[in-house]
Amino acid sequence: MHPTETISSDRRWILKGLAAAAMAPLAARAMAAEGLPAPPTEAAAAIATDKAYWADVKRLYAVTPDVVNLENGYWGIMAEPVRREFIRQSDMINYQNTYYARQRAGADFEAVRARVAEAVGALPEEIALTRGATEALQLLIGGYNRLKPGDGVLYADLDYDSMQYAMNALKARRGVDVVKFDVPEPATRQAVLDAYARAIEANPKTRLLLLTHVSHRTGFVMPVAEIAHMAKARGIDTIVDAAHSWGQIDFKVGELEADFVGFNLHKWIGAPLGVGFLYIRKDRLAAIDRDMGDEDFAEADIRSRVHTGTVNFATVLTVPTAVALHQQIGAAAKQARLRHLRDYWVSRARGFKDIEILTPDEAGSYGAITSFRLAGKTSKADNEAIVVKLRDSHKVMTVRRAGVARGQCIRVTPALFTDEADLDRLVEALAVVTGTKTG
Ligand SMILES: Cc1ncc(COP(=O)(O)O)c(C=O)c1O
Repeated sequence: MHPTETISSDRRWILKGLAAAAMAPLAARAMAAEGLPAPPTEAAAAIATDKAYWADVKRLYAVTPDVVNLENGYWGIMAEPVRREFIRQSDMINYQNTYYARQRAGADFEAVRARVAEAVGALPEEIALTRGATEALQLLIGGYNRLKPGDGVLYADLDYDSMQYAMNALKARRGVDVVKFDVPEPATRQAVLDAYARAIEANPKTRLLLLTHVSHRTGFVMPVAEIAHMAKARGIDTIVDAAHSWGQIDFKVGELEADFVGFNLHKWIGAPLGVGFLYIRKDRLAAIDRDMGDEDFAEADIRSRVHTGTVNFATVLTVPTAVALHQQIGAAAKQARLRHLRDYWVSRARGFKDIEILTPDEAGSYGAITSFRLAGKTSKADNEAIVVKLRDSHKVMTVRRAGVARGQCIRVTPALFTDEADLDRLVEALAVVTGTKTG
């Protein structure tokens, strides 16, 4: 705004913009987010270490300089073009109000659904938007109607707590036996495959398996397709928790070989908080009940499997911009960069005194996230003390994770705005904390 312009002319300009924005078709508005760096042209592996390119990407994020934040597993902050779009959509909704919502939101939400489906490699009729992975997975686990009393359901220690609760709740709800087993540590791909094979073998009544693609506890990337395939051969359906994977790991939903998957959009796709989706393979819709007997949509319409009520319109309307940025940087480049950042600190810290890295260096078994613990330090208090020391003495933010059978640990999660200098700070701090170096 020119300093001599009046407030009222500025307001008129904003209001005109909001009215025009509401009337433009959503798909046309959100195909590209302005201000993004040019897409890289090198192969993904070479891009991972392209300092100039990632410095451009880093500039897309406004993030506090008070701490090196390596706790980006909780959610993924919005890049600036996405945040601006979210503010614009929030203003539009507040201004247009139900006039927009009653006339246009239905078609716009459908455009969002189609955009997400295309990006994840599904048909639009195979996905329904939710408020996040929790809602998606609770609807899949709770709604799965192929269980009868006496059947078994199976999950592991690395699965997410609230999904474990939902599986446990099936005992009262469906009369099934619930079995939990431990993923071995260190979790190599073969050891994990063997553990799932053994668990399935030992529990022949199993009809439903919960499987987490990327563990929020250790960062381990499960060989989902192999396990789901193995389960299917025994007549077991698999529900995949992909809350952490899509956007961190480069894949399309079909590659998981699972019929039921819950996703987040507010972690590694970088959409505003409060949005995810569920996937049900087209020919398996009947295996999931309608959400609380929904009657808004037909039995054959996947949207009847999610009845959220009024949602934050702006959040949903911003999803295409987040997906556009994800695609502009590219899923393969993101994956390569995040793995490079993980390798950067792990390769330096691996030899430190008493440090145990919980996720192996095996190709395909990790993305951005990797957890560590110090030998013998398995309690909540031990790990919390280290997290606090890293944060308060070294200005490095991590998080303690519980629930791993062999003991608690500390999770380190870089993001696209992390650079090598940030990780040098972590490595330096770990050297002090482990007593590898005093200072
Ligand atoms: C593996 C896993 N599943 C499910 C969820 C739930 O996601 P949300 O809280 O975003 O719904 C999370 C969140 O961190 C997670 O890590």
